[in-house]
Amino acid sequence: MRIRSFTANRCRFVAMKNSQKTACFILVIVWILIFCKIGLNKTSSRNFVSQVVITTTDRPQTTPKTSSDAQIILVVAYMRTGSTLLGEILHQIPGSFYLFEPLRTLENTRADAIEANRTSFTLEYLFKKPQQFKISSYDGVIHSVMKSLLTCSLDELPSDILTDRHHSVFIDSLNYFEDCSSKHIADLKSMHTILNQTQTTNSTNTITKLRLNDNLRKCLLPYTASCRNSSAVVMKFIRLRMRHAIRLLSDFPKLKIVHLVRDPRGIIDSQMRTGFLKSGTAIAEECHAIASDLVFTKYLMENKPSAIKLIQYEDFAEEPLKMLKELRQFTGLNFGADIEQFIFNKTSAAKDNGEYTTGRKNSTETAYKWRTHLDFQLAVDIEKACAVSNSVLGYLPFHSKESLKNILVSPRRRTNVTHSLITNINF
Ligand SMILES: *[C@@H]1O[C@H](CO)[C@@H](O)[C@H](O)[C@H]1NC(C)=O
Ligand SMILES: *[C@@H]1O[C@H](CO)[C@@H](O)[C@H](O)[C@H]1NC(C)=O
Ligand SMILES: *[C@@H]1O[C@H](CO)[C@@H](O)[C@H](O)[C@H]1NC(C)=O
Ligand SMILES: *[C@@H]1O[C@H](CO)[C@@H](O)[C@H](O)[C@H]1NC(C)=O
Ligand SMILES: *[C@@H]1O[C@H](CO)[C@@H](O)[C@H](O)[C@H]1NC(C)=O
Ligand SMILES: *[C@@H]1O[C@H](CO)[C@@H](O)[C@H](O)[C@H]1NC(C)=O
Ligand SMILES: *[C@@H]1O[C@H](CO)[C@@H](O)[C@H](O)[C@H]1NC(C)=O
Repeated sequence: MRIRSFTANRCRFVAMKNSQKTACFILVIVWILIFCKIGLNKTSSRNFVSQVVITTTDRPQTTPKTSSDAQIILVVAYMRTGSTLLGEILHQIPGSFYLFEPLRTLENTRADAIEANRTSFTLEYLFKKPQQFKISSYDGVIHSVMKSLLTCSLDELPSDILTDRHHSVFIDSLNYFEDCSSKHIADLKSMHTILNQTQTTNSTNTITKLRLNDNLRKCLLPYTASCRNSSAVVMKFIRLRMRHAIRLLSDFPKLKIVHLVRDPRGIIDSQMRTGFLKSGTAIAEECHAIASDLVFTKYLMENKPSAIKLIQYEDFAEEPLKMLKELRQFTGLNFGADIEQFIFNKTSAAKDNGEYTTGRKNSTETAYKWRTHLDFQLAVDIEKACAVSNSVLGYLPFHSKESLKNILVSPRRRTNVTHSLITNINF
């Protein structure tokens, strides 16, 4: 858009001499070429659609409605920070459409490609041909997937995202989609084969394709409808970074981001004990992710404070009802009438119900349990790697093994993080 108006301003054709016209014509061609190149990289998915032969009935009948009248709440977090519980709490907003980790399969596809030393990965869709993406354009893929999610254009999503079994494991709003779609999974496979062919005319294939589309579309319809009719679209992520979230603000100005952080020693200890800590570089990567996210969080705190809420897991564990009040203020939305009971059940549950779930006997105890098993040297390594973010978040280093294990020695200084961030020149 900017490029086009720029060219137009420079080329008031009527008032020009011939030589100027030629020069301007060349300028326009150059801009068109540049524009096409940029456009292709940025919106390759869109562009691809026009190359693929899809009959008009395959496309959505109306332009997707943006969820501009619904509240959008994204939780940006890290693994083992209580993000599942926070997501479940936000899911208690009446009429909310909630998705648990919708980028999970996408991240796995990318990770598999990297592991196999490939430079690209392929995504399959319900209603269009498989598409190949460069690993280097992953941020662009995330952006376009997020836009489809936030406009409730579920039919545009890679099919893995829709059929991820975690929707039913974590009971989000796509809970029963797999039940319906799995009946048509054979259809889905033959559809991919058909879509893979370049044939365009009135063939039996086209008719088959339409019939298959119809079955799957019927599965998807109630979910698209409930997303479009929701009071709030809520999603929780450990695979979306603040740099991705902030990019969505220009298209979704009402977007609200909850950035959930935790003491990295607690994060790493919990990841280790649940078998999720993968490589030796995991600590450095986690610290880097937290520090880079805080740069964008600070930017929003200074420039669009209504869009950002930073929450520390420890505050949440210690005073869940205070956090609830703050979430009400931040989102401007009311939770269900029994939300306090719901939180009480989840944070002081009669018994712990498993490593990956959210019911805990005593959430304060759970929040600091890492101190009883974390090795002192490892604690020191984490403190070093995360020194920059720890300094603004108030997580204090331990000076000895004894102080690490002594529950009377506080692991944190309660701090106004907004103030610390705004005054800290490292961010
Ligand atoms: C839309 O949401 C409202 C309020 O949650 C509900 O009463 C209504 O039945 C919904 N409409 C449709 C078509 O789902
Ligand atoms: C990927 O490349 C690395 C280093 O070149 C090599 O050690 C590894 O075996 C390769 N992996 C696969 C799956 O080809
Ligand atoms: C599509 O066609 C390509 C090349 O013929 C093939 O490698 C790929 O497996 C096909 N994909 C599907 C889903 O049939
Ligand atoms: C395709 O089929 C439709 C309906 O059967 C028909 O109206 C149309 O003329 C056909 N088009 C071609 C190119 O054969
Ligand atoms: C809380 O737990 C009790 C006992 O298990 C259960 O009966 C009740 O429905 C729960 N309430 C909420 C809001 O989750
Ligand atoms: C939870 O544990 C903390 C720390 O051990 C303790 O202070 C608090 O009273 C406990 N809360 C409940 C509800 O048992
Ligand atoms: C925290 O600091 C910010 C920025 O200095 C300030 O606007 C805000 O009122 C403070 N919050 C509290 C609870 O003191």
